[in-house]
This record gives sequence, structure tokens and C-alpha cells, in this order.
Amino acid sequence: MAKRASIYVCGNCGHEEIRWLGQCPACGEWNSLTELRMPKATRGKSPAAGAWAGVSGPGSGAPVPLADVSAAVADRLTVEPEEVARVLGGGLVAGSVVLLGGEPGVGKSTLLTGLALDWTGRGVRVLYVSGEESPAQIRLRAGRLGFDEKRGEGFHIIDQITLESLLDTLYADATEFDGPCVVIVDSVQTLHSEQLDAHPGSVGQIRYCGGALADYARQTRRPIFLVGHVTKSGDLAGPKVLEHMVDTVLYFEGSGGASIRMVRAVKNRFGATGELAIMEMRGDGLVPVDEAGALFLGGRRGDIGSCICAVRNGSRVFLVEVQALVSPARYGTPQRVVQGVDSKRVALLAAILEKRAGMDLAGCDIFVKVTGGAKLEDPGADLALMTALASSLRERPVPEDTLILGEVGLTGMVRDVTDRAARLKEAARYGFKRVVLATSGKAAKSQAGMKIDAVTTVGEAMDAALNSGRAKGGAG
Ligand code: TYD
Ligand code: MG
Repeated sequence: MAKRASIYVCGNCGHEEIRWLGQCPACGEWNSLTELRMPKATRGKSPAAGAWAGVSGPGSGAPVPLADVSAAVADRLTVEPEEVARVLGGGLVAGSVVLLGGEPGVGKSTLLTGLALDWTGRGVRVLYVSGEESPAQIRLRAGRLGFDEKRGEGFHIIDQITLESLLDTLYADATEFDGPCVVIVDSVQTLHSEQLDAHPGSVGQIRYCGGALADYARQTRRPIFLVGHVTKSGDLAGPKVLEHMVDTVLYFEGSGGASIRMVRAVKNRFGATGELAIMEMRGDGLVPVDEAGALFLGGRRGDIGSCICAVRNGSRVFLVEVQALVSPARYGTPQRVVQGVDSKRVALLAAILEKRAGMDLAGCDIFVKVTGGAKLEDPGADLALMTALASSLRERPVPEDTLILGEVGLTGMVRDVTDRAARLKEAARYGFKRVVLATSGKAAKSQAGMKIDAVTTVGEAMDAALNSGRAKGGAG
């Protein structure tokens, strides 16, 4: 079958079609498909394979016994700070491609410059491709982050935005220098290939340039960071088309506190997803936050409508405060406004409270907020969400030293959470003394120094959380 000369790619979600359509069948966006012509010279092959096949080319294609395949992928370049290394799955894998997405100004260049300075300080070569800023601006930023001749030796700037000349430079560099080297492309939206008749930043250009750079990373075993800007709505607009061809996708976002930044791994072929790095933007760069476990806790505890739970995010436990406001609806249909948690989940939990614990929420407006910009995905926070709702409805506080943990089913039964010990240990560190949770079989009376109040149903849990008569201070 003849190879097609062009395909049509959705700029919104990266979906491919063989002909033009007015609406993308995958994401429903109108007029988002653009034509992507395959360059003649490389049609049907990976973009860079032809011209630079000599460097350390891909395999011959013949079957190879798995035992003979080198497991060198486990070679990881040490990444400092540890906070970022964890998100990458413990270090930077040789030949891997990392897409770093984030809104303009969030600190992507700052993060990468900081990592680069650490690498060059340890003898790793860094090639920083500057499409976005002038070399002088990068020098200025590096200066703020502590660049000096000694620490920054091996830090190279490549001021190129044409893919073909950039690849020439990069491949030439790879033949000359075969030590460890990291390539940073800031940003992929500024690159353009002469082979394509499309402007920089368009889906076609991003896809083609990203593909060629990913090939370069795999052939030379040099890891590459691709920076991609995201739109306000939070998706990697153009760079979305790269998500499937890179190994790791990191999102960089701000949080409640103005200077707090979070890096989240949403895809990682070499580590767990859901990992979170929490850092603070200071005058001299990004610094990991101490005591991150309590970052999402407000100063006060024990207020009406507030409840604290311990949630897992990747390999770490965070204490998170859930707040709810329940009040009789005055106008028409009751409102359900939620922040930091899925609204359908809140509706479901409210329905369970109504049916299984006899609470009348149907005629009430419900507002739910997770403090500090945290996102609640852990099912272990079900019971805490319900307790916050019940606390507001009943006008009773949860005692300030009490933690609520548990997943809740439609029948109103409460289930134990995964990794209970780690959660209790973290809570005990921050002064919690008692926990309401479900236990199966022989219940322990205490764990990690915390008193356990064992419950099996939602009704029992609400009684244990709100009627303990141990409320001190607070608004109750
Ligand atoms: P930048 O890394 O340029 O963002 P991005 O590459 O994601 O567009 O950083 C943007 C902001 O960070 C800018 O407003 C200045 C601030 N900043 C600091 O607060 N401290 C620093 O040490 C640096 C380098 C930047
Ligand atoms: Mg930048």
C-alpha cells in the first residue's frame, strides 16, 4: 500500500485522521484538524534516522533474545534535589525524553537551569537550547541560581530554532563527546523544521520536531527535556501530541500559596505516576519545601465543617484539610460547588449520607473545598469528605486532634485504607491523637501512638467523629 503523504492532526488532543473533518471525533473540538505533510525525504521512516543513521543507530530489526538485551536503561543520572528525582522515578534514565509542561512564568526554565547547574557541577555536560530567551537572559538567570565558572563548566547554550541545524549541532556534539550529557529544549514550541510548511508552535511542527529529538535521545542515549507551554485550561495544547512519544510527562503548576510550586508526574515509563514534588520559588531559585506533609493544613483545626485526612500521593502521605459548607437552598435548584475534588464524587457521597445516615441534604446548597490547592483523588478521603459535610449540616466540629480515614461504599459500609501505618505515622507527627477508621477482624486499639476508634458503617463513623464530646476550643 502506498504511504500517505499527509495526515490530519487535531490541535486539541492529537487525534489523527486520514482526511480532513470539521469536528474532531475524539475530543469534539470544531475546526481543530490541521494537515501535516510528511516530508518527502523521510516519509515512512522516523524523521532523523536517514540523515544521521551512523551515530549509534537503532537495531538491525532481527529478533534478539530478551536475555541478551542490555538492561542499561536502569542507568540513571543522579538528580538533585531528591524532590525532583522522586518524580522522575529516582533519577534521569539514559536516552529518555521528558516533557515538562506548565503555564508561562510558573518556573520551568528556573527548574531546569537549577538542575543543569547541579549536573554541570558534577561533570555532566548540559546543552541548553534556547528558543524562548536570548543566551544573555539565560546567563542572567543562571547567575541568580549561583552560576560560576567552576560550577557551570560544561553548561552550553545552543541558540538555534531551526530543527535541521539544531540536529546537525547536536549529532556533531554526540560524536565528539561521549560522556554523560543532558539536552534541554526550551521550548519545543519555538522550534521549526524547514521540511514542514507550518509555523512554529503548530501541531505539525511540534510533532515533527519532538519526534526528531526523541529519536536523537534514543540513538545517542542522551536524556532530553522538552519544555512545553500549556494554556490556562491546563492542557498541553500543542505539546499534547507529544505525550505518547515521550517517556515521562511532568506538569508544573502553582498552588494555593503564591510561591509554592508542584511538579506532578502524569506519565512515567520509568517510575510511578502520581508522584508530587513540592517546592518554593525563592529569590535564588526553587527550593524543596520542608515539612511538606503538613503543607495543606490550615493553621486552625477543629472548626465546624472542617475535617482532616491523610492522603497518599505517589509514595508520600500528605495531611489534607477538607472543608464543607452546607446550608438550605434559598433559590431554585440547590447548588453543588466543589474545588479540588470531583463533583460527581461529592454528589455520590452526599447521596450515601442521605440514604445511609439519614441526613437531609437534598434541599441544601453544598460547597466543598480542599485547602491549599491539593487535589483529592485518593478514595481513602471518602469518609473525611462525608464527615465535613455532616459537620457543617449538624453544626458540630470534629475534635481538633482527630483524623478521619476510610473509603465508603454505596451500601454505607466503611473500608480500611491502603497503607494505614504510613498515614497514621505522618498524622502522629503533626499532633493527631485519635483516628476514626474501619477495621476488619481483630481491631488494634492503637497504632503509631494514635488511639483507634473502629467503625463499620457511615452512621457509626459520623457519631464517632462528631459526638465524641471531646471538642476543645474551636468554633464548637
Ligand atoms: P521562569 O523559569 O522564567 O518561568 P517559565 O520558564 O515557566 O516561563 O520563571 C518565572 C518566574 O520566576 C519569574 O516571574 C521570576 C521568578 N523567579 C524567582 O522568583 N526566583 C528565581 O530565582 C528565578 C530565576 C525566577
Ligand atoms: Mg521559560
